[in-house]
Amino acid sequence: MTIPIRKIMVSSALPYANGSIHMGHLVEYLQSDIWARFQKQRGHQCTYVCAADAHGTPIMIKARQQGVSPEELVTRVAAEQHEDLKAFGVAFDNFHTTDSEECRQIVYRIYHELKKAGYIYTKVIEQAYDEQENMFLPDRFVRGTCPRCKSEDQYGDACESCGATYSPNDLIEPISVLSETRPVWKDSEHYFFRLSKFADRLRGWMESAQLHPHITSKLEEWFTAGLQDWDISRDAPYFGFKIPDTDDKYFYVWLDAPIGYLASFMNLCARREDLDFDAYWNADSANEVYHFIGKDIVYFHTLFWPAVLDGAGFRTPTSVFAHGFLTVNGKKMSKSRGTFINARTYLDNLNPSHLRYYYAAKLGAGMDDIDLNLDDFIARVNSDLIGKLVNIASRCAGFISKRFDSNLSATLENETLFAEFSAESETIADHYEKREYSKAMRIVMASADKANRYIESKKPWLMIKDESRAEEVQAVCTQGLNLFRTLMIYLTPVLPAMASDVQKLFREDPWNWAQASTPLLGRRINRYEPLLTRVEASQVERMVEQSKDTVEIADDADESNTISIDDFMKIDLRVARITHAQAVDGADKLLQLTLDLGDETRSVFAGIKAAYKAEDLVGRHVVAVANLAPRKMRFGVSEGMVLASGPGGSDIFLLSVDDGATPGMRVK
Ligand code: 2FM
Ligand code: ZN
Repeated sequence: MTIPIRKIMVSSALPYANGSIHMGHLVEYLQSDIWARFQKQRGHQCTYVCAADAHGTPIMIKARQQGVSPEELVTRVAAEQHEDLKAFGVAFDNFHTTDSEECRQIVYRIYHELKKAGYIYTKVIEQAYDEQENMFLPDRFVRGTCPRCKSEDQYGDACESCGATYSPNDLIEPISVLSETRPVWKDSEHYFFRLSKFADRLRGWMESAQLHPHITSKLEEWFTAGLQDWDISRDAPYFGFKIPDTDDKYFYVWLDAPIGYLASFMNLCARREDLDFDAYWNADSANEVYHFIGKDIVYFHTLFWPAVLDGAGFRTPTSVFAHGFLTVNGKKMSKSRGTFINARTYLDNLNPSHLRYYYAAKLGAGMDDIDLNLDDFIARVNSDLIGKLVNIASRCAGFISKRFDSNLSATLENETLFAEFSAESETIADHYEKREYSKAMRIVMASADKANRYIESKKPWLMIKDESRAEEVQAVCTQGLNLFRTLMIYLTPVLPAMASDVQKLFREDPWNWAQASTPLLGRRINRYEPLLTRVEASQVERMVEQSKDTVEIADDADESNTISIDDFMKIDLRVARITHAQAVDGADKLLQLTLDLGDETRSVFAGIKAAYKAEDLVGRHVVAVANLAPRKMRFGVSEGMVLASGPGGSDIFLLSVDDGATPGMRVK
């Protein structure tokens, strides 16, 4: 069957360049990577782009805390994120950044078009202002007591306890997160985009985009509530693109974030002769554009984004695909439970193919949350990938190499069975196309069961004992290997690394989809090398253990009320001299300190990196808890604790001891 070649651009949401990729992010990157790989394997021109989401207040503040420029922070974090994603087999055609010349150009072009068309206006609004830090505060940088349920320490836009939404000046006792002072309310002129003018066009787009019913019902709610114009500006200081003809106004990060998709694509077009930016992005483009996103950012991608594109004379996305959140063991990921697992920690312990398969086996087209149940993960991967899939190859390949000099026979032993496997081709392809990966995986694994039953019924290990049946053994094993090969072609989008090893086994180039229906016969193959190993429970346990950040646990822990004097007397506080201090590879917050306690030396990990430079600490006398049981942390064992005060981050102050005190002295 010939399939007309489609021209497709796919994006996944841009990760904020201020944190590590974790298992939650991977749901989306793996979902979109599988889809892009599938389209390529079908022979389409599919271009998969992403970028660092570089701008905004949180990144500006984090860079300040680390004593680096936002650009430096973004470059470092984006490179780490990209490395982690590549290690999971996520194969972007381009990974760029929103803090780029291409992005600036397109942002300005879009802004000018919107302004020319009358979609931009200014209005003075009142906003929380931190007089100590001299800056306006985003809603999330104001905390206080919820006006509805009176829960303390809630964000300025919504209460995590009762779900109420409000604005920061509704909070009781509001406090700036930055300075811990009470904000004042100040006027500022802001730039607005007239989203309200786009209701009809957005309805039309919604229908043509054939959005999943989960998204359409959300959109219906928003249309019914009425579309509000969108505030697209932020006041200085801000890390972003300055609004033309202003001195102190910047585009809000969410304006330039999706423009980052175009910027990344434009950056790639400059290197790729076969790609033309306008052919994809002009208003009349017949090419396809799809955005994969999480359900939390549907509003941005199905209202603001198509309206901005339409208003500025660009084409709108063909569709937007939203997935649900990840839970681990049925609950929100948690640092104290060790289920907030970073991509890197997973990679240190387990094989990325295992996770790719597990997520694929769980993913459908809708916004339902998916659960990574760690026991189920071990059972499922071992049963499906090792017990069913790899088992087919390992049972057949040995005979072919040992007894038949690695030659496949010239005919299939059971053509009907092979035809049954190849007949699944379009059904499986349709499931991939519709992002119903779990359905595709079910068909593949049911077929793997069938292949195993076939081998079981033939028992080549018994037949081989009878020399006169040698040819039959070769035919059965050739049949088994061909069934395996067809299944691996179907699984290539999900298991690209293993597919590449299987291509080496069969001495083949990368497969296209149609090859699943043509058997490989009368050829010499390579020696079989083990393809995938089982997941051991101990690997998963170690990963969970390493994900327990004991510094974070201390932050999360419930405050207990009081301790008795006896409890207090148990704490052995000592004067300690810091003899050595160094950063800890891979830990954002930690310094490793060597403490001289008079008669012994201890190694302690302290979450004070944002507040102190390692070299400034050497020689300081601090107060240490000397009898704290050693704690195993991800980076080593911590043999005590140094005392400090302050809320955290860069506001941490080590307790110092006056001159004259010597290491080991008891603190009373
Ligand atoms: O929610 C987020 O993590 C954003 N950084 C996603 C941006 S997606 C796109 F609009 F760029
Ligand atoms: Zn509340």
